Amino acid sequence: MTEAEYKAIEFDNVSRIYKSGDHELKALDSINFKLDEGSFVVILGPSGAGKSTLLNLLGGLDSPTNGKIRVFGKDISTLDKNELADYRAETVGFIFQFYNLIPTLTVYENIALVDEISDNSLSADKMLEAVGLLDHINNFPSELSGGEQQRVSIARALAKNPKILLCDEPTGALDSETGVLILKHLKKLSKDYGKTIIIVTHNQNIAKMADIVMNVKNGRILSIDEQEIPLSPDEIEW
Ligand SMILES: Nc1ncnc2c1ncn2[C@@H]1O[C@H](COP(=O)(O)OP(=O)(O)O)[C@@H](O)[C@H]1O
Ligand SMILES: [Mg+2]
Repeated sequence: MTEAEYKAIEFDNVSRIYKSGDHELKALDSINFKLDEGSFVVILGPSGAGKSTLLNLLGGLDSPTNGKIRVFGKDISTLDKNELADYRAETVGFIFQFYNLIPTLTVYENIALVDEISDNSLSADKMLEAVGLLDHINNFPSELSGGEQQRVSIARALAKNPKILLCDEPTGALDSETGVLILKHLKKLSKDYGKTIIIVTHNQNIAKMADIVMNVKNGRILSIDEQEIPLSPDEIEW
């Protein structure tokens, strides 16, 4: 298949059903969408909507009950554990609300770690420079503010150099000023490096800077809207 024949991400009737006893919970209920490479996407929805489930499926942390997920033309819905680990290593990066840094490693070591996982990782120094943290490379995470820790986790995701970056409430624990700074970094990644960025949030205002806004509720996609002229992070009211 050639590049033009498939999108970066395709969900085809994807469901994720949790069973307990005879009760079934449809965390995702037959959802369909396609996204182009380099898109900056915001997924909005109330708590329990299925946002994290969607991100986990796309990130290869979980597999769908039904349906197909294709990423750059490759069907990831039927991969086994080892194949999923390879997929995660090659294709996706994660940024979480609470940073997930390793407390006993320095900032530099937290980032250099990705060399072990990724074959095409980028220099830790360069990525720390990109997020403005060169002064802190020998600090431990506990010595940094929340915003700085999130910038470390962005530098780590950058260094891993994935094509797709999945962000689950990346600014949820940050004040507005720091949140805007983080969003600027993420936007730069999609515009300057062609990364496909997907941000899950319940903050409606963040959606104003997206190319694509997806609204999710009760495991279903209510709407997918393209925004011709997204706001810049500076223009967002928190
Ligand atoms: N591992 C699990 N086992 C059972 N139910 C789950 C599990 N993970 C999520 N759910 C349920 O699936 C629904 C969607 O959850 P989630 O994707 O985490 O929502 P969101 O991230 O939008 O808040 C919720 O009702 C949640 O309780
Ligand atoms: Mg969630």
